[in-house]
Amino acid sequence: MSIILGIESSCDETSAAICADGDILSNLIANQLVHQNYGGVVPELASRAHQQNIIPVVREALSVAKVHKNEVSAVAFTRGPGLLGSLLVGTAFAKAFALAGGIPLIEVNHMQAHILAHFIDDPKPVFPFLCLTVSGGHTQIVLVKDYFDMEIVGETTDDAAGEAFDKTAKLLNLPYPGGPLIDRYAKQGDPMAFRFPEPQIPGLNFSFSGLKTSILYFIRDHQQKDPDFIAQHLADICASVQHRIVTILLNKLKKAAKQYNVRDVAIAGGVSANSGLRNALTAMADQEGWNVFIPKFEYCTDNAAMIAIAGYHKFLKQEFVGQDVAPLARMIL
Ligand code: KG4
Ligand code: ZN
Repeated sequence: MSIILGIESSCDETSAAICADGDILSNLIANQLVHQNYGGVVPELASRAHQQNIIPVVREALSVAKVHKNEVSAVAFTRGPGLLGSLLVGTAFAKAFALAGGIPLIEVNHMQAHILAHFIDDPKPVFPFLCLTVSGGHTQIVLVKDYFDMEIVGETTDDAAGEAFDKTAKLLNLPYPGGPLIDRYAKQGDPMAFRFPEPQIPGLNFSFSGLKTSILYFIRDHQQKDPDFIAQHLADICASVQHRIVTILLNKLKKAAKQYNVRDVAIAGGVSANSGLRNALTAMADQEGWNVFIPKFEYCTDNAAMIAIAGYHKFLKQEFVGQDVAPLARMIL
């Protein structure tokens, strides 16, 4: 029997989870609401909030799972990529927990973990599969050959898809993080109401900065004529922007699936919670004959269950790290 404690602290959620022989028994997340007042994550405030949250969150994760701390076999933590001050809190906690319990320490790459969240529940994808990983910091098409053998075959050359959502929300005077709000308003809007351009980027790469600029000018021009433009057309603007972001993502994913002759296709990361993306992907899968894998909502945005499951697969291979391990703000897949 293996019991893995997973710790996630790369950005603004403090999370702890317990995984017993590959089954997630608990997954606790403390959100940091403090950043809403600043329109984005403030790194210094994030690391202080992690310090406050980490012990109560771990205690609760153990308690919900009905696991005593002495029963934990290994502790897995997010080493990177992320905000260094935030990563340091989780790393230091994990090291101390491992040292105190005399148990092994397992480092996890946050972006690999988003993908490995697909190995929490059934049905599970079959290697090799493609995963579109879309978060606040990343937009990648990944060819997943094995649990820890992944190749980026396409990525953004500028903004991430999550940033495109969040920056659009900011232009619409919506609070941070705006992605989920755009999703909510889009449900009442017409995705064809306004047309935003699709960038012509060669190969499997993405670009979202041109879209952001065209939205900026679109809003500015309409507001000059009608100061109430945003308020009156909010749902249609959200639906149209979301439609464009989703088509940019899925057109490249379709191209990648053809190029690599892959039929198992997954999405991961915070933006995979977007209902427009989930619906459009399901429709595309029907058309293309793909087996599609869409994570449960709680495993889309940052969570420790994905860290614990990644840790479990490293535990099976006895892949441990020493107490000299340091977090990495940048970490390749
Ligand atoms: O993976 P994640 O929780 O954190 C990072 O590692 O970045 O992703 C956060 C991103 C944010 O940009 C947020 O606005 C976006 O995911 N997001 C969404 C939705 N839920 C979260 N974007 C669009 N629609 C959603 N429903
Ligand atoms: Zn993430």
